[in-house]
Amino acid sequence: MIETSKVTKDFGSLRALDKVSFQVRRGEVVGFLGPNGAGKSTTMRILTCYISATSGSVRVNGHDVFDAPLEVRRSLGYLPQRAPLYGDMSVWEYLRFVAQMRQLDASSFRKRMRSVVEVCGLARSLGTDIRTLSHGYRQRVGLAQALVHDPPILVLDEPTSDLDPNEKAEVVRYIKEIGKERTVVLSTHNLAEVEAACARAIIISKGRLVADGNLEDIRARSGRVRYVVVIDETKGLRNGAPSAEAAQQALVGLGGTSGVKELPTDERAHAFELMAPGERDLRPEIYRMAVERGWLLLEMRRDSQKLEDVFKALTRGDEVAERGRPLAEEAEAEPDEGEAGADEDEEDEEEEEGSDDEAAPEEEPDEADEPRDKKD
Ligand SMILES: Nc1ncnc2c1ncn2[C@@H]1O[C@H](COP(=O)(O)OP(=O)(O)OP(=O)(O)O)[C@@H](O)[C@H]1O
Ligand SMILES: [Mg+2]
Repeated sequence: MIETSKVTKDFGSLRALDKVSFQVRRGEVVGFLGPNGAGKSTTMRILTCYISATSGSVRVNGHDVFDAPLEVRRSLGYLPQRAPLYGDMSVWEYLRFVAQMRQLDASSFRKRMRSVVEVCGLARSLGTDIRTLSHGYRQRVGLAQALVHDPPILVLDEPTSDLDPNEKAEVVRYIKEIGKERTVVLSTHNLAEVEAACARAIIISKGRLVADGNLEDIRARSGRVRYVVVIDETKGLRNGAPSAEAAQQALVGLGGTSGVKELPTDERAHAFELMAPGERDLRPEIYRMAVERGWLLLEMRRDSQKLEDVFKALTRGDEVAERGRPLAEEAEAEPDEGEAGADEDEEDEEEEEGSDDEAAPEEEPDEADEPRDKKD
């Protein structure tokens, strides 16, 4: 449904996207992740025909964004990061206006509005002028305009960023629901939302694609797993409990572990975190060791890495450059690049200019603005 191939976007001397290629199939809900300035919104604007790529190709619902932009726009609902709204209109008037532009007849509009109003929690705001709405309610209206024509493809740029926790949960639940038959690309900084709504994630960093795959695979990318081991500090199986130092030393001696760290705990227990390569399961060895030494094992678990850890590792280059630290210091923390890996050369010359801030709202797609973004 969405196919991008080697999409590159330059803003003057800044390369905001560098040969980004990915595909999204019907019925997929894809989390689009990356640190601030990574290029998420830029990619979404290219997909939705707001701006054109400097090079590369994009097809949406079978249509090329250059050759058939109207067809592309017809297939899409798009919630920009800063949604364009008309303050003088009431919520109802605005949504009706959007529906008219989308060529929805009056009865389809009313029918659609029932579900949109429910999902977006707008029942009591329909008569309110948009300019008097709170931030979160504006975002709800922005989301409603993306959904009103029931498009087969949704591109949502941080749809939940200003919502309260109840509404966030409702929107995530809805995205998951509609994602069964529709295609959704959703950017967010909330990784828990990605875990809740998406089976797949695409991660970009400094304009390059650094991971693309199902969440399980991405989590496993670092190749390391984490164990938590908790041992009673008051009594043992036979001869009393071990000291924290003795227990830690024994765990270090297991072999294969890369670091054993003591964790704080409220219990009267020693708790440790061990990192180790994923191939071998250390749990039988830890259990055997506990039995042999007479430790009372209160807890033992093995987690693959959290999405957040992998995200941090994959995008560390951005973070380090942003804080003005030399990259070399962090280089060893970089995980191995997998299939979708970007080239290793980490130039950290990205200067963050603040010109991204568009004080004026973006216009509706049909009146595409941004004169600086002309196609070559
Ligand atoms: N119209 C523009 N003119 C110049 N530079 C731009 C423009 N739009 C985006 N950029 C730059 O392109 C890069 C990518 O920006 P983009 O908005 O796509 O990031 P993002 O991943 O959406 O970040 P965030 O998480 O902060 O929303 C940034 O360095 C940004 O400053
Ligand atoms: Mg953005």
